[in-house]
Amino acid sequence: MNPFLLKGYISPQYFCDREKESDKIINSIRNQQDITLFAIRRTGKSALIFHIFNHLKESYDCLYVDLWGTTSLSGFINEAANAVIQSTIFSKRSFSKKLTDFIRAIGASLSIGNDGKPSVDIIYHDRNQVFNRLEEIFQFLEGNSSQVIIAFDEFQKIKKYTDSMPLEAKLRSLVQKYHNIRFIFSGSEQHLISDIFSSIDRPFYQSTRIIELKKIDTSHYHQFIMKHFHAGNKAISDTLVSHVLTLCHGHTYYIQAICNLIYSQEKIPDTIDEFEEIYLDFIAEKQVFYAELPHRLTRHQFSTTKAIASFGKVEGVTTREFMAKAEIGSPGTMQAVIKALKEKQVIIKEGVAYRLYDVFLEHYLRYFG
Ligand SMILES: Nc1ncnc2c1ncn2[C@@H]1O[C@H](COP(=O)(O)OP(=O)(O)OP(=O)(O)O)[C@@H](O)[C@H]1O
Ligand SMILES: [Mg+2]
Repeated sequence: MNPFLLKGYISPQYFCDREKESDKIINSIRNQQDITLFAIRRTGKSALIFHIFNHLKESYDCLYVDLWGTTSLSGFINEAANAVIQSTIFSKRSFSKKLTDFIRAIGASLSIGNDGKPSVDIIYHDRNQVFNRLEEIFQFLEGNSSQVIIAFDEFQKIKKYTDSMPLEAKLRSLVQKYHNIRFIFSGSEQHLISDIFSSIDRPFYQSTRIIELKKIDTSHYHQFIMKHFHAGNKAISDTLVSHVLTLCHGHTYYIQAICNLIYSQEKIPDTIDEFEEIYLDFIAEKQVFYAELPHRLTRHQFSTTKAIASFGKVEGVTTREFMAKAEIGSPGTMQAVIKALKEKQVIIKEGVAYRLYDVFLEHYLRYFG
């Protein structure tokens, strides 16, 4: 098996480091504190949640709620109910009386999918019932014989819900009410962080412990990569591993994807040149995703994106050299372009430098743009 996972979580063996973060979160949970976890996309938030569940599954029932596809409060509650039904609470004694009671209490209908997994759909007779359903779910968990951890992943989605129900206020009061349930709210930076720090009238996050997930330490990642190549009897040079870590700006998903690619080769590249031969083909295949980018951006935004891609990282965006490369005449225009590209999540600021959010896009534009 290729040890460099491209999605999800299997076991600690395939999971690199995050020891400090794990300890901090586990310790918080054991001390009845709730958590808000945030980071830029593809850093490893979801994987970390499963890693923590793996540690705590003996003493807690662990529930994972994926809010990615939800667009409304009722979707939120449906996902929560499904997380309950698919959790260890029921898998221990699958269709017990407990389950039928739960389904009845939340006014849901149960169906079994093609994959054999049960799922529910909640029927609302009137809008005011919605919060009651949520309370019934938490009420049920409060009465569970073991303690419960419920993680709401992609929590930033609630910002875009179409119904104007005061979900955050409601959640805040619910979160504080139940002692048997620990909450993890996890989301990607852009929307979540601006909310956490910029609005004093949103006291929701203040009642949780806020943890930002940063990059995995380079030397830990280096050792992890070497260890897995070694275990698979595939020799790789330190130079190439360092090159990959730098090339990806330490961004977890991209490191995993490139290591997965190298590992999958019959002959592991010896040199950076040999690696590039394989890698250029891989990046060229991304064309389908990136070809429409010029249509999503203005001419100035696109030329600036390409300029940042060509440098990799850019500190001074209003220097003469950079402005010439980006084909922009005035610092004022440049500032506006940078702001727009940040909002569109095409670029991010790391420390003092800007880079493209999507590392493969950076390389695509550099080689083929
Ligand atoms: N500590 C780690 N060690 C090894 N691989 C990891 C680690 N953390 C995450 N990964 C891998 O990196 C990729 C991205 O991780 P994950 O999906 O958890 O990120 P995320 O922050 O939840 O992303 P998104 O914001 O897109 O939901 C996945 O392939 C995952 O398996
Ligand atoms: Mg995730």
